[in-house]
Amino acid sequence: MNTNNDFNPDWSKIGFGYIKTDYNVRCYHRNGKWGEIEISSDENINMSMAATCLHYGQEAFEGMKAYRGKDGKVRLFRPEENAARMQSTSRGILMPEVPTDLFVKMTEMVVKLNARFIPPYGYGATLYIRPLLIGVGPTVGVKPSPEYLFMIFVTPVGPYFKGGFATGDFMITRKYDRSAPLGTGIYKVGGNYAASLRANKEAHDLGYNGEFYLDAKEKKYIDEAGAANFFGIKNDTYITPQSTSILPSITNKSLIQIAESLGMKVERRPIPEEELATFEEAGACGTAAVISPISRIDDPETGKSYTFGNGKPGPWSEKLYNKLRGIQYGTEPDEFGWTTIVEGI
Ligand code: PLP
Ligand code: COI
Repeated sequence: MNTNNDFNPDWSKIGFGYIKTDYNVRCYHRNGKWGEIEISSDENINMSMAATCLHYGQEAFEGMKAYRGKDGKVRLFRPEENAARMQSTSRGILMPEVPTDLFVKMTEMVVKLNARFIPPYGYGATLYIRPLLIGVGPTVGVKPSPEYLFMIFVTPVGPYFKGGFATGDFMITRKYDRSAPLGTGIYKVGGNYAASLRANKEAHDLGYNGEFYLDAKEKKYIDEAGAANFFGIKNDTYITPQSTSILPSITNKSLIQIAESLGMKVERRPIPEEELATFEEAGACGTAAVISPISRIDDPETGKSYTFGNGKPGPWSEKLYNKLRGIQYGTEPDEFGWTTIVEGI
């Protein structure tokens, strides 16, 4: 077996990268139906060089995490929501939908098979789960593939943004759009991330943690970051963009419910850039980002700059973070019924 036998990490130093694990799980869609689940120890995929995923971007992915709790149990966070979003992406780019039960079953399988890679509790590290659905059939004309591969791999990860739950600076990019109002921004397809690579590199080169996009049509409203949603907080109100070009974040959706349960008001509406000046706290949120509090957002093209708090995460961000993390790690009651315990690890 092609295993990673040298794996012996310093969990406190692990970054957000790819580390080979023991197994991945796969399932093909051929002749209109899903086949048997296969377990593979090969990290490579064998496919036609004419596959639609390679030429026409017929691919969808998801991002989840498995959390090793203080009680030793391993929890998944709302995997059925990721299944539903992948189904929505499939409808968006004409791929077959992976049924929720198959999606969740394969997720649990791949986590169990790679249990030795699940970081222990207390290091802020998790096992990142990456489901991937790709068109593998050879099709040179621009049309959907006749065959698909759904697979899931896992890899242990640390924080996505520098410092984890520590404030960071972001910039607004006006040079690039991530997605059009009626484009694929609401789907989790690779093309959106290809569209973000230059803006993201330029932001990093200038010392920022990442980039925020404005709505592509009017260049007026905050959309989201390259890999996370945005929220701002003022007057005990959690405010997050409504837009047809952003990914519907499961973390954000959960934070909205937590915010309400903590007594906050919630508004989901377009956020004009100038309103940033009025927020007491701001953050980026997502599976990889968790909550990354923001200390400053610069708009280098206009010279405007917006600061939040005093360089430390704000009080509401901290409460939201603690509640979300607590549910994910099993130190807070799962009052919304969001976690699934992976049995037998
Ligand atoms: N927005 C983008 C562009 C993302 O890539 C992600 C990550 O998945 C998110 C938002 C956050 O979504 P979620 O909270 O479901 O991980
Ligand atoms: C996630 O939060 O899971 C993401 O997909 C973000 C990124 C690594 C693409």
